Amino acid sequence: MKLKDKVAFVTGGSSGIGRGICLAFAKEGASIVFVGLNEEKGKRTENELLAIGCDALFLQADVNNRELLPSLIDKTVERFGKIDILVNNAQSSKNVPLEETTDDVMDLALNTGLWSTFILMRSALPHLKATKGKVINFVSAAGMIGLSKQASYAATKEAIRGLSRVAATEWGRYGINVNLLSPIANSPGVERLQEEHPNAYNKMVSLVPLKRIGDCEHDIGRAAVFLASSDSEYITGQTLMVDGGTVMVR
Ligand SMILES: NC(=O)c1ccc[n+]([C@@H]2O[C@H](COP(=O)([O-])OP(=O)(O)OC[C@H]3O[C@@H](n4cnc5c(N)ncnc54)[C@H](O)[C@@H]3O)[C@@H](O)[C@H]2O)c1
Repeated sequence: MKLKDKVAFVTGGSSGIGRGICLAFAKEGASIVFVGLNEEKGKRTENELLAIGCDALFLQADVNNRELLPSLIDKTVERFGKIDILVNNAQSSKNVPLEETTDDVMDLALNTGLWSTFILMRSALPHLKATKGKVINFVSAAGMIGLSKQASYAATKEAIRGLSRVAATEWGRYGINVNLLSPIANSPGVERLQEEHPNAYNKMVSLVPLKRIGDCEHDIGRAAVFLASSDSEYITGQTLMVDGGTVMVR
């Protein structure tokens, strides 16, 4: 039980990778507060977590709502008394060519990704200082290799990387670890990509050296357990590539 007595806060935890992380954390003994947009999906995941003995709380909220975000941290501390692990996983974006990227398209990616990550990190800081906590933020190959039609998403993810590295530098003195995870996994987002952009999906699979798409819980969730546990105590400011070797091996 690597996360026994730990309290985790996860955005976008109802489905996909966020749900996989919640399940993996729950099986390691963590208590979990997770945020999601959809009430029905959130309740379903909450019930799954409760059924495996996890003390879980679903908060229905839109991470686009900047004013609301600090109150989600407050609710977590009211319920569990502390926060040990902050996972900024939620992200929305639209895939369009750069020249068709409107202000609204850019705002959607930046608000759900960068702004929510920034505000939640800032709001959680006093609590993370108290626990010598762990922050796990999400980046993507899209930003690292400049994938076509993903300008707003790529820009957001690389901004999150810059923010996280500064946090790793500044918050190391508090014993807080800040790391990034760059996944490839079979989430609903990727299933949508398969339906709407089959060529992009097939290209993605063909570029994975391990020749399979990762599993949200067993591949990504387990890697997140490592970054959330004391096993990674001396690791900070790093990007853990959990992508079957896609970016680093050709
Ligand atoms: N799946 C992959 O292969 C892949 C690859 C690279 C990076 N990532 C990153 O991993 C993370 C999870 O990806 P995923 O594939 O599971 O995504 P997904 O689109 O399947 O799920 C995203 C989650 O975020 C939540 N969310 C989106 N907008 C929200 C909002 N405004 N308020 C609250 N919640 C919101 C959704 O409800 C969902 O639970 C994201 O940061 C994504 O960018 C995923």
